[in-house]
Amino acid sequence: MTERTLIILKPDALQRSLAGEIISRFEEKGFKLVASKLKCISKNLAAMHYAVHNDQPFFDRICDYLSSSASLIMVWEGNEIIALSRKLIGATFAKDAQPGTIRGDFSCSERFNLVHGSDSVESSNYEIGLYFNADEITEYELGNARWLADAKPSEINIF
Ligand code: TYD
Ligand code: MG
Repeated sequence: MTERTLIILKPDALQRSLAGEIISRFEEKGFKLVASKLKCISKNLAAMHYAVHNDQPFFDRICDYLSSSASLIMVWEGNEIIALSRKLIGATFAKDAQPGTIRGDFSCSERFNLVHGSDSVESSNYEIGLYFNADEITEYELGNARWLADAKPSEINIF
Protein backbone atom coordinates (compact mmCIF):
# COMPACT_ATOMS: atom_id res chain seq x y z
CA MET A 1 0.00 0.00 0.00
CA THR A 2 1.30 3.46 -0.84
CA GLU A 3 2.07 5.46 2.29
CA ARG A 4 3.78 8.69 3.24
CA THR A 5 6.27 9.12 6.04
CA LEU A 6 8.07 12.01 7.71
CA ILE A 7 11.83 11.69 7.51
CA ILE A 8 14.07 14.20 9.28
CA LEU A 9 17.79 14.43 8.75
CA LYS A 10 18.60 15.64 12.25
CA PRO A 11 21.28 18.26 13.00
CA ASP A 12 24.18 15.77 13.19
CA ALA A 13 23.36 14.47 9.69
CA LEU A 14 23.76 17.96 8.21
CA GLN A 15 26.75 18.90 10.38
CA ARG A 16 28.51 15.72 9.29
CA SER A 17 27.69 16.29 5.58
CA LEU A 18 25.75 13.04 5.35
CA ALA A 19 22.58 14.46 3.79
CA GLY A 20 23.37 13.32 0.25
CA GLU A 21 24.41 9.87 1.38
CA ILE A 22 21.26 9.37 3.43
CA ILE A 23 18.93 10.75 0.75
CA SER A 24 20.56 8.32 -1.71
CA ARG A 25 19.46 5.40 0.44
CA PHE A 26 15.84 6.47 0.06
CA GLU A 27 16.20 7.19 -3.66
CA GLU A 28 17.94 3.88 -4.34
CA LYS A 29 15.22 1.97 -2.53
CA GLY A 30 12.70 3.41 -4.99
CA PHE A 31 10.94 5.89 -2.74
CA LYS A 32 9.65 9.24 -3.99
CA LEU A 33 10.43 12.59 -2.38
CA VAL A 34 7.22 14.65 -2.23
CA ALA A 35 8.15 17.51 0.15
CA SER A 36 11.19 19.01 1.81
CA LYS A 37 12.27 22.02 3.85
CA LEU A 38 15.41 23.02 5.67
CA LYS A 39 14.90 24.72 8.99
CA CYS A 40 16.01 25.03 12.57
CA ILE A 41 13.24 23.28 14.49
CA SER A 42 12.20 25.32 17.53
CA LYS A 43 12.27 23.81 21.00
CA ASN A 44 8.46 24.08 21.06
CA LEU A 45 8.05 22.25 17.78
CA ALA A 46 10.53 19.59 18.92
CA ALA A 47 8.41 19.09 22.04
CA MET A 48 5.31 18.63 19.86
CA HIS A 49 7.22 16.27 17.61
CA TYR A 50 8.26 14.11 20.57
CA ALA A 51 5.01 14.57 22.54
CA VAL A 52 4.58 10.81 22.77
CA HIS A 53 7.78 10.71 24.86
CA ASN A 54 7.01 13.70 27.10
CA ASP A 55 6.97 11.67 30.31
CA GLN A 56 10.33 10.01 29.58
CA PRO A 57 13.57 10.98 31.34
CA PHE A 58 15.23 11.54 27.94
CA PHE A 59 12.53 13.93 26.69
CA ASP A 60 14.43 17.20 27.29
CA ARG A 61 17.62 15.78 25.84
CA ILE A 62 15.98 14.70 22.56
CA CYS A 63 14.15 18.04 22.23
CA ASP A 64 17.46 19.90 22.74
CA TYR A 65 19.14 17.72 20.13
CA LEU A 66 16.38 18.08 17.52
CA SER A 67 16.33 21.86 17.98
CA SER A 68 20.12 22.33 18.17
CA SER A 69 20.79 23.32 14.53
CA ALA A 70 19.36 23.00 11.02
CA SER A 71 17.44 19.87 10.04
CA LEU A 72 16.25 18.70 6.64
CA ILE A 73 12.59 17.74 6.94
CA MET A 74 11.11 15.61 4.19
CA VAL A 75 8.05 13.65 3.23
CA TRP A 76 8.74 10.50 1.25
CA GLU A 77 6.16 8.30 -0.44
CA GLY A 78 6.26 4.65 -1.40
CA ASN A 79 4.91 1.16 -1.03
CA GLU A 80 4.92 0.15 2.66
CA ILE A 81 7.31 3.04 3.24
CA ILE A 82 6.66 3.38 6.97
CA ALA A 83 7.94 -0.08 7.86
CA LEU A 84 10.53 -0.23 5.08
CA SER A 85 12.09 3.13 5.91
CA ARG A 86 12.41 2.08 9.56
CA LYS A 87 14.44 -0.87 8.27
CA LEU A 88 16.61 1.43 6.16
CA ILE A 89 17.18 3.67 9.18
CA GLY A 90 17.98 0.84 11.60
CA ALA A 91 17.62 0.38 15.33
CA THR A 92 17.33 3.43 17.60
CA PHE A 93 20.76 3.04 19.22
CA ALA A 94 23.93 2.65 17.21
CA LYS A 95 25.07 -0.32 19.26
CA ASP A 96 21.99 -2.25 18.09
CA ALA A 97 21.83 -0.98 14.51
CA GLN A 98 22.95 -3.44 11.86
CA PRO A 99 25.64 -2.55 9.33
CA GLY A 100 23.86 -1.70 6.07
CA THR A 101 21.36 0.51 7.86
CA ILE A 102 21.85 4.28 8.04
CA ARG A 103 22.40 4.29 11.78
CA GLY A 104 24.44 1.08 11.62
CA ASP A 105 26.74 2.55 9.00
CA PHE A 106 27.10 6.14 10.16
CA SER A 107 26.29 6.50 13.86
CA CYS A 108 28.30 5.35 16.87
CA SER A 109 26.33 7.39 19.40
CA GLU A 110 23.41 6.87 21.79
CA ARG A 111 22.39 10.47 21.40
CA PHE A 112 23.14 11.34 17.79
CA ASN A 113 21.31 8.87 15.62
CA LEU A 114 21.04 11.01 12.47
CA VAL A 115 17.53 10.30 11.23
CA HIS A 116 13.93 10.36 12.32
CA GLY A 117 11.29 8.22 10.60
CA SER A 118 7.61 7.91 11.51
CA ASP A 119 6.69 4.59 13.07
CA SER A 120 2.99 4.23 12.12
CA VAL A 121 0.31 5.70 9.88
CA GLU A 122 -1.08 7.69 12.83
CA SER A 123 2.29 9.15 13.75
CA SER A 124 3.15 9.96 10.13
CA ASN A 125 -0.14 11.87 9.73
CA TYR A 126 0.51 13.76 12.96
CA GLU A 127 4.17 14.48 12.20
CA ILE A 128 3.66 15.52 8.56
CA GLY A 129 0.98 17.95 9.76
CA LEU A 130 3.43 19.54 12.19
CA TYR A 131 5.82 20.58 9.42
CA PHE A 132 3.87 20.83 6.16
CA ASN A 133 0.67 22.32 4.81
CA ALA A 134 -1.16 20.14 2.32
CA ASP A 135 -0.16 22.46 -0.56
CA GLU A 136 3.53 21.96 0.24
CA ILE A 137 3.32 18.30 -0.73
CA THR A 138 3.92 17.81 -4.44
CA GLU A 139 2.08 15.17 -6.43
CA TYR A 140 3.90 13.92 -9.51
CA GLU A 141 4.59 10.66 -11.33
CA LEU A 142 7.88 8.85 -11.05
CA GLY A 143 8.84 7.69 -14.55
CA ASN A 144 9.89 4.26 -13.31
CA ALA A 145 6.90 3.72 -11.01
CA ARG A 146 5.78 0.60 -12.88
CA TRP A 147 9.10 -1.07 -12.03
CA LEU A 148 8.47 -0.61 -8.34
CA ALA A 149 5.97 -1.89 -5.85
CA ASP A 150 4.43 -5.03 -7.23
CA ALA A 151 3.51 -3.92 -10.73
CA LYS A 152 1.42 -6.66 -12.36
CA PRO A 153 3.18 -8.40 -15.28
CA SER A 154 0.44 -7.06 -17.60
CA GLU A 155 1.48 -3.53 -16.66
CA ILE A 156 5.08 -4.16 -17.73
CA ASN A 157 4.91 -4.14 -21.51
CA ILE A 158 8.11 -6.02 -22.33
CA PHE A 159 7.00 -9.24 -20.59
P1 TYD B 1 12.03 6.43 19.68
O1 TYD B 1 10.87 7.09 18.98
O2 TYD B 1 11.74 5.28 20.57
O3 TYD B 1 13.16 5.98 18.66
P2 TYD B 1 13.27 6.15 17.05
O4 TYD B 1 14.00 7.44 16.80
O5 TYD B 1 14.08 4.96 16.62
O6 TYD B 1 11.87 6.15 16.49
O7 TYD B 1 12.77 7.56 20.55
C1 TYD B 1 12.97 8.86 20.04
C2 TYD B 1 14.40 9.25 20.31
O8 TYD B 1 14.62 9.29 21.71
C3 TYD B 1 15.41 8.23 19.77
O9 TYD B 1 15.80 8.54 18.44
C4 TYD B 1 16.55 8.32 20.76
C5 TYD B 1 15.92 8.82 22.04
N1 TYD B 1 15.78 7.77 23.08
C6 TYD B 1 16.60 7.82 24.19
O10 TYD B 1 17.46 8.72 24.31
N2 TYD B 1 16.47 6.87 25.18
C7 TYD B 1 15.54 5.87 25.05
O11 TYD B 1 15.48 5.00 25.96
C8 TYD B 1 14.70 5.82 23.90
C9 TYD B 1 13.69 4.72 23.73
C10 TYD B 1 14.85 6.80 22.94
MG1 MG C 1 10.18 7.19 17.07
